Order: sequence, then structure tokens, then C-alpha cells
Amino acid sequence: MPRSYCITTEAIAEERKRVGDDMDKFEIARVIHLDELKLPELGPRDVHLRILVVSAEHNVDHAALADTVNIAELRGGKIYPGNSAVGEVLAVGSEVTRFSAGDVVLTHCIGEPDIYGYPLRIFAYDQPESIGWYGEEAVVSDWQIVPAPLDCGLDLWQIAALPLRAPTAYHLWRRAIGMFRVKVGRVQRARLNVLGFGGGVSELFLMLALHEGHRAIFCSGSPERRAHLESLGIESIDQKQYNRFASKDDVKSFNKELKAHTDGEGAHIVCDMLRGPVFAAGLAASARLGVNVSAGWQLSTGCDYNSANLSVRQITLDHMHYETLEGVSAATELYGSVFQPTVHREIYAFADLPRAVAEMHENIQTGIPIVRVADELPASVAKLAK
Ligand SMILES: NC(=O)c1ccc[n+]([C@@H]2O[C@H](COP(=O)([O-])OP(=O)(O)OC[C@H]3O[C@@H](n4cnc5c(N)ncnc54)[C@H](OP(=O)(O)O)[C@@H]3O)[C@@H](O)[C@H]2O)c1
Repeated sequence: MPRSYCITTEAIAEERKRVGDDMDKFEIARVIHLDELKLPELGPRDVHLRILVVSAEHNVDHAALADTVNIAELRGGKIYPGNSAVGEVLAVGSEVTRFSAGDVVLTHCIGEPDIYGYPLRIFAYDQPESIGWYGEEAVVSDWQIVPAPLDCGLDLWQIAALPLRAPTAYHLWRRAIGMFRVKVGRVQRARLNVLGFGGGVSELFLMLALHEGHRAIFCSGSPERRAHLESLGIESIDQKQYNRFASKDDVKSFNKELKAHTDGEGAHIVCDMLRGPVFAAGLAASARLGVNVSAGWQLSTGCDYNSANLSVRQITLDHMHYETLEGVSAATELYGSVFQPTVHREIYAFADLPRAVAEMHENIQTGIPIVRVADELPASVAKLAK
């Protein structure tokens, strides 16, 4: 039987007990366990996949910590996480026409689309019955995968960094620019100041902005990520210089620097996937009529703001979750030409997946964490595993 990682309510409860509910001492790697999985029978619209490479995502962090909700409990006591993967098709059901054995594909995380195509639920998180891809094999519906653009110019690890993060960035960007353009037309302002805070989604968001001719500014605590983005033409600010906005004075100093960098105007568009102290910094540094977009709450789920202040400055706050199916395909077209992600310096072995998630939580990685699941890769993929 193929092996797959799982998170159980017992493991979370045991770890909480071990640390006496002190979440600073909670060790995420202790609650992500390798299990054996009986795969479902291949239905007519199903595809049997061998998982090659996956990226670690923060929803696993949220599942292990049970900090947003206790998703393992809500899913009946156990979840099999992982919703961003590169896989090889082993077999297809009788009605599948878009894929055949040997194809290399990417997964997306839409569990079930709403009437407009946006996800009601996320695969391998709150979508009932969904079994994630931190495992050796999987059976998925054919609409759950898209062809992998192996000739896009990226290496395998960069491709593996994108299936979840690139569609998120793509959706954030098209919303942000759309909302700003409702308020300020191209004839009034062509080149915008676009600010993103640390993280993989944010860096991809800034690559989209830069590609469309805007000024992109990355405020991050990671020197490696800043260096990579600078090499692409994205300006950077060291977030640690402002103590990660621990106090009001730090926010004020950051605001002063950003305004000085932008002829006093500030950021027309801000991508904030973190919230918490970052939210206040993003709002302070916003230009008049600015747009602040987010699809994450890594540092806090709550946001506090002064409605009168934002009304007078005509600031738009927007929240989203994930792209549509069409948007996932559109974002995949931009691999390599626009999206050139930063990858963490170590490619983790399958056995080290819990450590990869733990180190992501500790924020000690130099880029997006990638885990190699399969030792043997198809020839078309092996040549990209540089
Ligand atoms: N809704 C969706 O579809 C979706 C998709 C992807 C991600 N997300 C969510 O978005 C968030 C970010 O995900 P990601 O994949 O972009 O992140 P990521 O690539 O894993 O990076 C996380 C970043 O968080 C920053 N960070 C960590 N601790 C911090 C702190 N105390 N203060 C300020 N910054 C800190 C770090 O930036 P530095 O460089 O500054 O150290 C780090 O690079 C997560 O909550 C994730 O769940 C949502």
C-alpha cells in the first residue's frame, strides 16, 4: 500500500499535553505521521497519480497547530494533508480524454467550486473525503489536475513551488489591479507602486506587477529572498530593520521610508498575506485610493482598522481565498515567463517532510520548501531536477 502523511486529533492532543498547551513549545513535526493508505478504486473520470514532488504549504501548519479551526477533528479525527504537487499519471479511467499514462501534471487545491468557479472548500483541508498529496500515490478526479509546463524554463523544484501559490497570486493581482482601476484610470496614473510583504505568494504577486510595468517593492526579513527578487528588478526593504512592526514607532518609521521612496505617495496596491503587525504597516503605507488584498492570516485572523480613516483615504480592503479552474490554467501559462519563485536551499527527502513543515513554521528557510517524494523520476522530469 502507498504511504501518505496524516495528522490526527490524537497526535495534536498528545503534543498539546506534552507542552502543557504552550504553543511556543509545540513541535509540528511530532503531529505529522506516516501512514499507509488504501487508494479508492479508479472511477471512469479518475486519474491514478504517482506523486513526484510537493511543496510545503501553511495550511498544513494551520492543520497541525489547529489554530484557525481543528480541521482534523472536523474531518472525523484525521486528515491526509498536501494540496500542491507534481505527479505522473499511472492510469486513467475509461471516460478520461485529457490525460493518459505517462503525462506529468500539477494539482490544484479547489475542493468544490461555487457557482462562479471559486472554491467553496479546499482539497485536502475542509473538502470532505479529500485525501491530499503528501503521499506516494493518489487517485483524483480529472478536473483536479492540469498539464505541467515542463518546457517553461524553470527547474523541477521551481515548478513544484507554484501549483498552489501561483494561482493565489494571480487571483490577488487581477482583483487588486481591477479594483484600483475602477478608482484611478490608466490615463491618470500608468505606473503604480506595488508593495508585498515576505512570502512566496507575495513574491509572485510582485512578479506580476513588475511584468506589467509597475514599480514592485518587497518588504521581507529574508536576505536570500530579497536578493533573488532584486536580481529580477524588484526593490526590497529589510523588514527586520523595522522590528517586524512590533511597535507603533516601527510602523511610523517604515511608513516614512516607503513614502520617501515613492515621492510621498505610498503604495497604491499592497499584498498582505500575513496580517497581524504587517496589516497596520500596510495600511499606514497605502497611497490615497489604495487597495489592500489578502488571502492569508498567518500572524492573525483578526484585523483592526479605523473605518473613518480608510473612508477618507478611499482605501479598499479585500479578502479572497483561491482562483477558479480557468484562473489556475491561466496562471500556469505564466510559469517561467513571469513566475520565477525562490526555492529553499535544501530539497527535502520524503522522510523529512515533517521537518520541512516545522522549519517553514520556524521561518528559517531561504525560499519555498520543496519535498522530493519519488526517488525515480520520469526522464522528462529528471532532466529538470537540477
Ligand atoms: N488562500 C490561499 O489560497 C493561500 C495560498 C497560499 C498561501 N496562503 C496563506 O498565505 C500565508 C503566506 O503563505 P506563503 O505561501 O506566501 O508563505 P511562505 O512562502 O511560506 O512564506 C511565509 C513568510 O512569512 C513571513 N513571516 C513569517 N513569520 C513572520 C513574522 N513573524 N512577521 C512577519 N513575517 C513573517 C516570512 O517572510 P520574511 O521573508 O519576512 O521572513 C516568510 O517568508 C499563509 O498563511 C498561507 O496559509 C493562502
